[in-house]
Amino acid sequence: MSDLVKRYTASVFFDKRLWQADITGSLAHAEMLAAQGIIGADDHAAIQNGMAQITAEIESGKFEWQLDLEDVHLNIEARLTQLVGDAGKRLHTGRSRNDQVATDVRLWLRSEIDLISELLVDLQRALLEVAGKNVEVILPGFTHLQVAQPVSFGHHMLAYVEMFARDSARMADVRQRVNFLPLGAAALAGTSYPLDRERVAIRLGMVDDSGKACVCQNSLDAVSDRDFAIEFTAAASICMVHISRMSEELILWMSQNFGFIRIADRFTTGSSIMPQKKNPDVPELARGKTGRVVGHLMGLITLMKGQPLAYNKDNQEDKEPLFDTVDTLKDTLRIFAEMVGGQLDAATGERSGGITVNPEAMEQAALRGYATATDLADYMVKKGLPFRDAHEAVAHAVKAAISHNVDLSELPLEVLKQFNPKIEKDVYDVLSLRGSLNARSTLGGTAPAQVRLQISRHRARLA
Ligand code: ARG
Repeated sequence: MSDLVKRYTASVFFDKRLWQADITGSLAHAEMLAAQGIIGADDHAAIQNGMAQITAEIESGKFEWQLDLEDVHLNIEARLTQLVGDAGKRLHTGRSRNDQVATDVRLWLRSEIDLISELLVDLQRALLEVAGKNVEVILPGFTHLQVAQPVSFGHHMLAYVEMFARDSARMADVRQRVNFLPLGAAALAGTSYPLDRERVAIRLGMVDDSGKACVCQNSLDAVSDRDFAIEFTAAASICMVHISRMSEELILWMSQNFGFIRIADRFTTGSSIMPQKKNPDVPELARGKTGRVVGHLMGLITLMKGQPLAYNKDNQEDKEPLFDTVDTLKDTLRIFAEMVGGQLDAATGERSGGITVNPEAMEQAALRGYATATDLADYMVKKGLPFRDAHEAVAHAVKAAISHNVDLSELPLEVLKQFNPKIEKDVYDVLSLRGSLNARSTLGGTAPAQVRLQISRHRARLA
């Protein structure tokens, strides 16, 4: 091989990141080989000792990774053999790098999913905290980015809690399919050694809820499919899309034209030329990085397409997109929990330094767009007018309000009566933002009483 081809085919510079999973998988395999009498107890002990030393070497940065040894698996195995001789050469009995790497990626991804799940809980808690403080704060709800109806800012935050709750559930679901053992499939067809695959699975925690071993049941499939990685990246992409939508709102809300919120200076930067600027770099980057994660999903799914059974070297290309997806998602979730909800003081359980809300600006914006027009229509319907007629009457009322440059609630009763004689003084109760908010009391609606119920439900769920 020329140096160029060596560099082209090697993966050690990125797959060394799997070292811990590789050693864990090897130790489980060796323990089973010894229990089955395939290797001796002395060999097993030597392998354990050698791996302990290799672990120490890698952790202290003393391990010498070699390009010539291609990947993480061959690097660790070569060092093991250097340290313990023939026992090291026996480790690979009944195993291939094909089932080894599939196992390593699954073990690694499983622990990353667990971390991501914790971060998702943390972000939901941060959002709940903001929601809890802003149940009575009113902002305009938008459709088509046009003022539509007043909503509670707490309710708006809870919409994101719902999204991240589903992201959590998706991660938990993917985890179940990640947590299956390929080892024992060997190169592609299984092996002639009397392996106990279930023992290895149990040892590695690859079990279902009832404790039953989860073992891949077809050797060709076990070594070749990376659908679990694609699925994970799809779940990560959806989660990043949620982050991206929230980013877009944060960016709009902190612009001068909205002025709804401020985010702490440590998440923004100034401009090198315009001294007055405070740019929302973090949400903008998160929105941008969403493209990167969605790109990894496209990369992985295209990588798989057209591969014949069983293992092909194409699959070595699964690692970098997968690693980068995990890194990007974890960093983003961590930063967002802090940026939105503030830093958690472990001692007091209090958060500080999250977004600052400007209720006056939000309320003013809601007043500008005739956000209570639907409420006026509903009022007329309650007085007996068919909804379609009420809709039209209110359209005229809004026109009148626009021409007088006032809000609907500022039109005198005589004027309102021109649109429908049944309108009485009590109309002003529903024309206020607060009256409108309180009226939306269906399950899942924005009425403060409903929002509080939802907050308690989420708190109980996350407790
Ligand atoms: N580095 C390889 C990968 O990431 C390991 C498996 C190699 N197997 C083989 N037969 N060349 O997929």
